[in-house]
Amino acid sequence: MRLLPLNAIVEGSYLGKSIYNEYGNVLLRENEILTQSRINNLRLNGFTAVYIRDEYSNEIIEDIIKPEIKSRARLNLVNTFKTISNLDDSKDVNVRRLNQQIKNLSKVAHDIVDELFYEKDLMVNLVDIKSADNYTYMHSLSVGILSLVTAISMGFNKYDLYDISIGALLHDVGKIFIPNEILNKKDKLTKEEFEIVANHPKLGFDYLTKNTNLNLNIRRIVLEHHENEDGKGYPNQKKSNEVHEYSKVVAVADVYDALTSNRPYRYGMLPNQAIEYMMTLSGTKFNCLLIDSFIKKIVPYPVGTIIKLSNNKIGKVIEINKKYPLRPKVQIIKEKFLTNEIIDLLSSKSMNIIIKDVVYNI
Ligand SMILES: [Fe+2]
Repeated sequence: MRLLPLNAIVEGSYLGKSIYNEYGNVLLRENEILTQSRINNLRLNGFTAVYIRDEYSNEIIEDIIKPEIKSRARLNLVNTFKTISNLDDSKDVNVRRLNQQIKNLSKVAHDIVDELFYEKDLMVNLVDIKSADNYTYMHSLSVGILSLVTAISMGFNKYDLYDISIGALLHDVGKIFIPNEILNKKDKLTKEEFEIVANHPKLGFDYLTKNTNLNLNIRRIVLEHHENEDGKGYPNQKKSNEVHEYSKVVAVADVYDALTSNRPYRYGMLPNQAIEYMMTLSGTKFNCLLIDSFIKKIVPYPVGTIIKLSNNKIGKVIEINKKYPLRPKVQIIKEKFLTNEIIDLLSSKSMNIIIKDVVYNI
């Protein structure tokens, strides 16, 4: 299967992967035919890209964590966020309920760590297809998984990972206190509006400090996930050495996931575009070593992607070298048919060929 932007999907294509809402219910099942009305419906629901299965791509893209754990995580996040939105902290019973929910959420966070921990070679294609309205939950979950995959490759131990996982799931909890009209505004934010949004890390941190027993490392992720390497982040313009290493991991995952997601004010980028963009921020916004580790865990051109090469040939990615994911093996397509010609971008005779673009319609 391959990921296609919605506007490149031809009526009659087969859906490659089921699409879920935030409660884990299926909106459209894999193998269903995408009629024009279904495509329109997906667009209305805020989706911009889906996996399709066609003659160029029979590969299966495995879920990185079990769907059962994923829907449990999603449900616990929804419950925790909803309780916080309704919480009047003068009522003890609500605080007790919140702490029970945080306990459940921590259990899922541990399960996710346990599931990923031994997969040192794991690489991520694109964690999930998110619609705009289930963004907060899906985003939190994706950031959790991306942070863990990066942290595992950097050699963090299991106790670090438990904290990173919970902190990543809760990193944007402070957004509950920001008015929706500002969060979902389509136009550029005014200076005052930006200042309100930029306070969400502090609001989240203060809230969790007051109402929960979560440890300081976890709460620092919530407070510091928008601080930058060059000291120009927010809310406290902390210098690099003042920001906890957990927060730095989550910051990278957060930006990547935000860039590849659909937002009310812009369409999400594809993985290759997001990676290129993030590389330009290495050293200013992000720690260089961390960006290197992160990029190594993301597959910019997953198997099945149709690409255009600098020699003007079009081909399908058939094999990825985990060390050099920008130099895959490509099977050339001529006049809409796969040929026997294979170009290995890692071989010395292909050294001067680069990938120019992703092709959606052949
Ligand atoms: Fe945030």
